[in-house]
Parts: sequence; structure tokens; C-alpha cells
Amino acid sequence: MEAISKNFFLYLSNNKMLDRFAKRFGSRFGADKIVGGETFSQAIPLIQQLNHEGLEVTVDHLGEFVDSEAEARDRAGECIRSIQQIASNQLKSEVSLKMTSLGLDISHELVMENMELILKEAQKHNITITIDMEDSSRCGATLDIYKALKKDHPNLGTVIQSYLYRSDEDLDELDPYDPYLRLVKGAYKESGKVAFPEKNLVDDNLKHLIKKNLLNGNYTAIASHDDAIVDYTKQLVKEHDIPTDRFEFQMLYGMRTQMQQDLLNEGYTVRVYLPYGEDWYGYFMRRLAERPANIAFAVRGIFN
Ligand code: FDA
Repeated sequence: MEAISKNFFLYLSNNKMLDRFAKRFGSRFGADKIVGGETFSQAIPLIQQLNHEGLEVTVDHLGEFVDSEAEARDRAGECIRSIQQIASNQLKSEVSLKMTSLGLDISHELVMENMELILKEAQKHNITITIDMEDSSRCGATLDIYKALKKDHPNLGTVIQSYLYRSDEDLDELDPYDPYLRLVKGAYKESGKVAFPEKNLVDDNLKHLIKKNLLNGNYTAIASHDDAIVDYTKQLVKEHDIPTDRFEFQMLYGMRTQMQQDLLNEGYTVRVYLPYGEDWYGYFMRRLAERPANIAFAVRGIFN
């Protein structure tokens, strides 16, 4: 049953007609509980509140299915404006972004041009940019962009997904780049040809990647709401005497808020991933796919 609902919501997350419908009818169905508003200005008070509670933030301007050059350039412009607003409002926030939103499906040159502009602004304000990882068909191209840009832009991170067979090798290849890596399980619908079909293998591989990256001495963001992963990391850093400034926990806005506070109280750095923007639809559907319990608040949201 869980697998069926997961596949159903992952299918919906890719449905362009529903995406357009959702955008027209605004932020509904409970999406506002996990999305920080439709504009960066709306997200600012939330970021200030999270910072006030001791949480760091990474903002993500939601956007998928970008297939026009003009829109990709607009997205880059929005990202630059958000960097400027982070700096002028002295927010403790980084920025996350997807390569398809900057034109990955259009041309490599377009993404690189957009990334150079974004990274120039980010470097000016010493703000870290993390490249989100999308579905497996874009993984190689995304990591190539990361490698090409990392040497001139130290404040650049990316994501490795433990459900992919290739990730262990990717970690080895990234090691010489002194990478800032967010390690996740992976959120897209993937075939058994490229990804572990069994959840326990995905979980085991995430633990393996966390250990390997931390012991390689690379800064590691452990991005999971799973108690088993968090407990594993705590035990590991204790055993190997890894200082708390070499890693952080990351969680999505609105998820496991008590656990975020508990980790803060224990002295760990916790960063909240706060998405904002009109394109909340695909993001919301993937969260529903991950956790059927989220459906309850989505249904309640219809009537709010
Ligand atoms: P998982 O969904 O496997 O759940 C394991 C257990 O954790 C559950 O059984 C439950 O006990 C507990 N749990 C999970 N969620 C809970 C909740 N809301 N409330 C209570 N208990 C809960 N993916 C991707 O493909 N590319 C990317 O770039 C990113 N980026 C990213 C950033 C950040 C900050 C996070 C946290 C996640 C991502 N992801 C991602 C998503 C990631 O790949 C993954 O799909 C989700 O984090 C879900 O996996 P978990 O490890 O959180 O737990």
C-alpha cells in the first residue's frame, strides 16, 4: 500500500497539467505548512524566526520544468536577489538550487553562465550555494558542473543520494575537490537498474556514505528525518572524535521540529531547508510520496 501511494505521488509530481492547475489556484492543500511563501520577502520573517530559535537555513526558490532560456535567466536573477536580501537582512542562510531551474535541459553553456553570475554574487557576501540533486538522468551532468565550478568557488556544495548505486564512486571522485556534501536518501522515482529497490539497502548505504565522507575529512550535511540515521551519526562522531564544526544536520522546513530543537540543545548545528516560490507543486508531491502521514495534513489543508 505504501509503495502504491509513493508511486502515485511521484507520478503526480511529474504531471505538468496538474502543476499548471496548482499554480493557478495558489498555495493550498497544506503546502503552506512546508513552504515558506510565494516570494522571498514572505520568507524573510520565517527565516528570522528560525534564526532566532538557533536554526540555520538554506532557502530554495522552487522551480522545475524550466524549458525556456528567458525563464532560466529569470530564475538566476531571482537567486541573485535572494542572495542580496540574505546579506542586507543579515540572515543566517545559505541558498540551494536545482540545475534544471537554470537551464540544464536547454544547454550546458546557459547553466554555466547563470551559475557564474550567482556564484560571483554569493562569493561577494560569503554565502554558500548548494546544488540540489535531481533525478538520476541528470546526476552525471550536475556533478560535472559542480567539479568545473568548485575549484574557483570554495563556497559550493552539492548532494549525493544513497539510493543510487553510483554514489560510492561519486564520493571517491569528489574527494579531491574538498567537497561540501549534503547526503540524502533520494527523493525521485528511479528504476532498479540505477537505484537500490530495498529501503534497508538505501539506509545502509546512507550510513556508509556518511562514515566515508566524514572520515575523508570533508564537511558533511546529514539531511534526514530518520532517527536511525541521526543516532548513527551521533555515535560515529563520538567514536571518531569528529568535532561539531565538521558536520551539520539538515531537515526540511516543517518536518520533525521537536527533533530539530533537541539536536540544537545537544550542541549540534541544524539547518532547515526552506523552499519558497509559486512552483510549490512538485516539491509538495514528493514530500507526500515520502511520508503518507503527510497526506492527513494535506487533506486538512483543503478545508483550511
Ligand atoms: P525516510 O523518509 O526514509 O523516513 C525514515 C523514518 O524517519 C520514518 O520511518 C520515520 O520514522 C521518520 N520520519 C521521516 N520523516 C518524518 C516526519 N516528517 N515526521 C516524523 N517522522 C519522520 N532528495 C533529493 O533527491 N535531492 C536533494 O537535493 C534533496 N535535498 C534534501 C535536503 C534536505 C535538507 C533534506 C532533509 C532532504 C533532501 N532530500 C533531497 C530528500 C531526501 O532524499 C529524502 O527523500 C527525504 O529526506 C526522506 O528521507 P529521510 O531520510 O528523511 O527519512
